[in-house]
Amino acid sequence: MNSSPRSTPASIPDDASSGAPRDARRPGAHASGPHTGSSPARPRKDGSRPAEPHAGRNPAEPPASGAGPARPHAAWLPEAAFAAVGRRRVAIRGDGALVGTVAAEVATATATHGGSFTRLESGSGVFDADLVLTIAEDDADPQAPSSLAAAPHAASVDHTISGDHAISGRGNASTARNGVVATDGVVDGRDTTGEEDDESFRVSREDGAVVVEAACDRGLLYGFFHVVRLGEAAFSGPDLVERHAPATALRMLDHWDNVAVHEVMGQVERGYSGGSIFYDHGRVRTDLSRVEAYARLLASTGVNRVAINNVNVHAREARLLTDDLPHVARIAAAFRPWGIRVHLSVSFASPITLGGLGTSDPLDPAVARWWREAADRVWAEIPDFGGFVVKADSEGQPGPFAYGRDHADGANMLAEAVAPHGGLVHWRAFVYDHRQDWRDRSTDRARAAHDHFAPLDGRFAENVIVQVKYGPMDFQVREPVSPVIAAMPDTRVALELQVTQEYTGQQKHAVYLGRQWSEVLTFDFAGPDGDRAALPPTSVAGIVARSGGIVAVSNVGDDEFWTGHPLAQANLYAYGRLAWNPAADPTALLDEWIALTFPGAPADVVHTLHEVLDESWETYERYTSPLGVGFMVRPGHHYGPDVDGYEYTPWGTYHFADRDGIGVDRTVATGTGYAGLYPQPWASVYESLETCPDELLLFFHHVPYTHVLHSGKTVIQHIYDTHFDGVERVERFAAAWDGVAAALSDDGGHTGPGHAPRPGDTAHAGADTAGADDGRAGPGRTTPAGAGSGARLAARVSERLAEQLRSAIEWRDQVNTYFYRKSGIPDEQGRTIF
Ligand code: GCU
Repeated sequence: MNSSPRSTPASIPDDASSGAPRDARRPGAHASGPHTGSSPARPRKDGSRPAEPHAGRNPAEPPASGAGPARPHAAWLPEAAFAAVGRRRVAIRGDGALVGTVAAEVATATATHGGSFTRLESGSGVFDADLVLTIAEDDADPQAPSSLAAAPHAASVDHTISGDHAISGRGNASTARNGVVATDGVVDGRDTTGEEDDESFRVSREDGAVVVEAACDRGLLYGFFHVVRLGEAAFSGPDLVERHAPATALRMLDHWDNVAVHEVMGQVERGYSGGSIFYDHGRVRTDLSRVEAYARLLASTGVNRVAINNVNVHAREARLLTDDLPHVARIAAAFRPWGIRVHLSVSFASPITLGGLGTSDPLDPAVARWWREAADRVWAEIPDFGGFVVKADSEGQPGPFAYGRDHADGANMLAEAVAPHGGLVHWRAFVYDHRQDWRDRSTDRARAAHDHFAPLDGRFAENVIVQVKYGPMDFQVREPVSPVIAAMPDTRVALELQVTQEYTGQQKHAVYLGRQWSEVLTFDFAGPDGDRAALPPTSVAGIVARSGGIVAVSNVGDDEFWTGHPLAQANLYAYGRLAWNPAADPTALLDEWIALTFPGAPADVVHTLHEVLDESWETYERYTSPLGVGFMVRPGHHYGPDVDGYEYTPWGTYHFADRDGIGVDRTVATGTGYAGLYPQPWASVYESLETCPDELLLFFHHVPYTHVLHSGKTVIQHIYDTHFDGVERVERFAAAWDGVAAALSDDGGHTGPGHAPRPGDTAHAGADTAGADDGRAGPGRTTPAGAGSGARLAARVSERLAEQLRSAIEWRDQVNTYFYRKSGIPDEQGRTIF
């Protein structure tokens, strides 16, 4: 339960008690130049965080709804999603732990839907089945239809990333005869994980019979879920051969879950879905069945790594690295059958707080030794452990600045400790001065990450990944893409997205973020004219897929529907699918999620789900802060409007509205110079009022309210129009949902990801079925829940839409009134403004 957080106003962390050796800082190590947002690191002696930035929880937030039921919603893996596979004769061949996972899935699906399942010995024939799932055998006949022997490895096929386009692979004779070879994307160049695993798979269909073939068991797992997603379509249509591979080897979710309930942030920081699936009031949960079910959902979308604790590592959470290792190992065991590796967020001050040393200076040999030994213990307990995530010198977290060292010094020391185990260090670039003087207009938080990290390019160790938020500020509904992503060609850079809707409606508002992420991933630093579907190496996806990967903050909790707002499941789904294939069409992914999650739903329900979600991101943008200026949220909990909430605070998030105009001048000519951090042509595009896109105008420019946008409207009229229109859209969504909610109440909201075996089903299973019995007790499943979940889902969505409408009206009226009073300019249409 997210039960105990108190609502407190945002406070400036008081560092007076800092024990950090300020005088030990190397001069200039974090010098604050006129445009630099530096982050003074002042950990207490015990390494704890002095106070929470952005503290507080929305007082209007209802208690975590639905928290804690034993039987979670099946999300996009209801029993019906397995019908097409489950009806068929399925054969599985191959070894490997994850082949067992696939076998268990197939056994349950066929037992439920009347098909049959055969587990074959290696080397046996595989042709008498409707669906064959097979690991390629080393000595396989390259001409045989089920052989992958001649299929190309991801890294050797193509050096672009793209979605499902034909490529010139080295397909064997039978593949070339039958159709295209397709890929979801390929990894270019260096090995991104240090592991051998090939996650690709090949699907061929001949006369309606399908063969999925993979070099490794992970590929087979992904290939299986590919067929599940396609349903009947997998088995119909012309013969074909396709090859699928993820765009990047690192597809990760970070959890901001606390072990102990934090007095301000609760059990899950920025969590809107009840309690944590991992922890409950200070302990790792005994029952991890929820984690298993979660792992299954993630695996079906392609996610392969999870960090299980908050980047703000408090005293209790720090001990996950030591005392709690056996429990972390239990969590890792829950993820393992689904091909997912576990990472921990660690505190840079751990040598002090856990090790009793007097320092955490990264260049101190005793500190380095402490980390090496800590890493040795972790990998001894969890041999496939992923690595460490670090938030250092950021919002009060300890880091290397306290010792006059820089981020490369800090990250490389940790990298050396984990390198012998093939571990990774995800070092976050979210570093800025959260104690800036609002009077000082030359300091620009947007510059901070670039100013800190770009000069360090080339200095990070091979196993360090610098993790960069998609925008330069903080997960706003609209920001330009962070220039840091393109500024470090000799560094492994990961993109960080936020699935949890901190600034996008907190899972009370229906906001489908797939479209936003697609815009970010397809952004091309080489210029606006590129082919977005082709995703060149200069695109965001191209850069991060090369070696860093894609990371996002999860939106999941112990809520019955996983995500508080049931429709927020679409974001989790789309995230995994876009991380696998950044070129995928986000609208198609939305429809895919709807079809899987609401199988058999009436057409008007499907239509309404699509209508409510498809342009919901743009809708949210319309009724909140305008034209890229950002924030205007209530300080602390970040929910609801407060136009000046952050204007006179130290957080660096300002809009500078006065009676004449609004916006932040980030030009090179007259502003903070931020626009100049982009490569051309973007530096010029953003610098000029003539070419700056409307939606980012106020991020880059301070303009009068009468400035005319490319749309032909003045800024002030744009504000009025979008806010009235935004609310009208939400009214339409709510009315549309009211019209179909009853249709869901009977059976459309299936609950329980289990596939209930039915009496007599075993009669359909082949006599030679092996391993069928392990399917029913397989990992990741719970027993199906009783009736009524459809009604609960419908009611939950209705309740959330009502709150969205209330909140949107509040946003509209506060923002419109604020700007009317500032500018004195009336609405051309004379609508009500207060
Ligand atoms: C935001 C968020 C914090 C979080 C931080 C981060 O500022 O409000 O709760 O800790 O991002 O990404 O580290």
